[in-house]
Amino acid sequence: MNNFIFENRTKVYFGKGCVGEHLPALLQHYGNTVFLTYGTGSVKKNGVYDEVTALLKAAGKTVVEFGGIRSNPTLAQMLEGLAVAKAAAPDLILAVGGGSVMDCSKAISMALRYDGDIWTDFWENAGTMDFEPVPLGVIVTMPATGSEVNGGAVLTNTERHIKTDRDYPRANPDFALMDPCYTLSMPLRQVRAGTFDILSHIMETYFSFPIEDNVSDDISEALMRGVIRDLRAAMKDPQDYQARSNIMWEASMAENRIIKMGKSKDFECHNMEHQLSAFTNCNHGEGLAVLHPTYYRHIMKDGLGKFVKFAVNVWSQKAEDYPDDMALAAAGIDALEAFIKELGLPQTLSELGIDDSVNLKEIADSCYTAGGTFRTIDQDEIYQIFTECR
Ligand code: NZQ
Ligand code: ZN
Repeated sequence: MNNFIFENRTKVYFGKGCVGEHLPALLQHYGNTVFLTYGTGSVKKNGVYDEVTALLKAAGKTVVEFGGIRSNPTLAQMLEGLAVAKAAAPDLILAVGGGSVMDCSKAISMALRYDGDIWTDFWENAGTMDFEPVPLGVIVTMPATGSEVNGGAVLTNTERHIKTDRDYPRANPDFALMDPCYTLSMPLRQVRAGTFDILSHIMETYFSFPIEDNVSDDISEALMRGVIRDLRAAMKDPQDYQARSNIMWEASMAENRIIKMGKSKDFECHNMEHQLSAFTNCNHGEGLAVLHPTYYRHIMKDGLGKFVKFAVNVWSQKAEDYPDDMALAAAGIDALEAFIKELGLPQTLSELGIDDSVNLKEIADSCYTAGGTFRTIDQDEIYQIFTECR
């Protein structure tokens, strides 16, 4: 194992009925004013908004709302929310939604306590966080990003065409309430896209140094097998509670930093997808599904031992069926691609809604290349990958 420091301060309350059971007691730890944030309407349709606001009312809280947070939250919308939050001076921010709501709210929790230029100092540059954000609690309605258990918040600066993220441990939510029943109203398109995002987070961590056996990768292999099993079950029967609750915890396990310990971490597909999204506002999980197989074929030789393990331990390929390690490793990537197809996820940029009018060269040039990869790819190779995904 490489050296590491592990920290995660988020307290998780998981399971059916956890919001009604635990939110009232949690609210007692904070002052009177709660800044309640949510997305574009799902919480009002599925009853979650009514349940949460009733609990806030019963606790005697003054509630100031900021709804309408859109997918792929922008810096501009975060600043809009910040202005409302500043006027309210909240004691607690309570975010109810998926990654977009949690990320936007997390950014507001930081910006409320920071006088400088938050974008430049914490998103564009990796600043040192030496202040405590306003306390944040989250109620998760869509498992995918793992934002509920980390200090990451992805924002898009639409003027600059930059979508980016950092993970600041002090920005972790104080608490996360995770009731799998809250996720049952998700459209199937979001279930498969969000769950593919979970698989991507695990793969992006797994396919990085060290290649040698290590605890983090052992956990990752088990998690990947679980995600594949549970997504298949959820697509077959969306009301399968066992599958949906597993997926919810898999999302958190992928991003609560545990599987990242001692790993260099790749996240090149995420960097590429974030820039595709910065220019086209595409769906995060779907964008990742398009990019992964092609990217992995590019770097397979550079991390061959790990790709062999992936084929055998995640996709049950048998070494004796292949002439050599290259063929075995390639079979693992083929199995991943077949899984993406089986789910009905997009496999090309055009299926993702990115047509020939989009300037892929400009997007490739805007991507930064991640450290921690088996091999650093440059902008020309990113452009090549985009072109192969057309
Ligand atoms: O707008 P609302 O009403 O919330 O509807 C959402 C949205 O339309 C809907 N939805 C969520 N829960 C639902 C539901 N619909 C019905 N029933 C429910 N229970 O699903 C749609 C997508 O929601 P969104 O929050 O945008 O999805 P996701 O959780 O995938 O978040 C995506 C954002 O997170 C970023 C992505 O780049 C993107 O901006 N990421 C954040 C990360 C982090 N903080 O660590 C890491 C990730 O890699 C990712 O980059
Ligand atoms: Zn992701």
